[in-house]
Amino acid sequence: MSEWVTAFAPASIGNVAVGFDMLGLALEGAGDRVLARRIDNERVTVAEVRGLDGELHPYLSTVAESNTASIAAQAFWDDHGDTGSVELKVHKGVPLQSGMGSSAASAVAAVVAANGLLDTPVSVEALLPYALEGEKFASGGLHADNVAPSLFGGLVLCPQVLLPSVVHLPAPSGVSAALIHPDLQVNTAHARRGLAKSYSTRLWLEQQGLLAGFVAACHAGDIDLVARTLRDVIIEPQRKDNVPCFDVVKSAAERGGALGCSLSGSGPSIFALCRTSDARNIASAMEQACRSQGIGCESWVSPMNAPGARIEAA
Ligand code: HSE
Repeated sequence: MSEWVTAFAPASIGNVAVGFDMLGLALEGAGDRVLARRIDNERVTVAEVRGLDGELHPYLSTVAESNTASIAAQAFWDDHGDTGSVELKVHKGVPLQSGMGSSAASAVAAVVAANGLLDTPVSVEALLPYALEGEKFASGGLHADNVAPSLFGGLVLCPQVLLPSVVHLPAPSGVSAALIHPDLQVNTAHARRGLAKSYSTRLWLEQQGLLAGFVAACHAGDIDLVARTLRDVIIEPQRKDNVPCFDVVKSAAERGGALGCSLSGSGPSIFALCRTSDARNIASAMEQACRSQGIGCESWVSPMNAPGARIEAA
């Protein structure tokens, strides 16, 4: 058995309002750690899963076939492992079912740690499909909007039609993200099953225009255009009622001068993009609005170019 290698992978904001399943943003300040070491075994195993309190997790599985991290690491090791297999320890730092890319962070940290065990690690780009295997198990769909930003950092455009390629978007300078996590849970797989299967041409045209405008705004560094385009006219209306504090939190963010505000992934977390100078005040206003509904919450403020996954200790 070898020494443990520790990888950290950040939380992320899925969809970023305009890009359902195809746009994601890394979030600084929260993330999962996965420790990996070589073992003389045929399959990847999970020694432990610890929760945010550092205690053994009450229900996340250590059965390798049911754990996002080990599924991703197994897929990676099947293709790139030399001898033996890998043992993992998963230390959660991203709350479960939070809309902050919890399963993606575990999957990404697992493949980065396993890659760190190789004499000749593969490129970070080559890790994406393996991390996606873990995410697919957890959320029931092939979407990279959490895995890609968690792996690469920053703002990433990752439509399924381009995978495994992704497009790194420039972060408009002077813009930050504020995010609150209300003390609620939304199961992403369940939230996905509840979405309508077809949409009108009118909505499709509107959302397509908003995404195109937002991408152009990022390239131009045009903050006014960010504010005009950061909207979700298709998915947010279908999901917002799962989060009872959503409307008041969004109003608070808008009153504070947010450029836009929506659910992070399938929620319950709610994010806003803001001028960096406004971001802390907007995060506080969102927190206060959430608490005014009798729902506790935690908040983060993050730059738009937060770093992606990395090896912390080898
Ligand atoms: N893009 C996916 C969804 C996952 O909204 O269902 C978000 O975390």
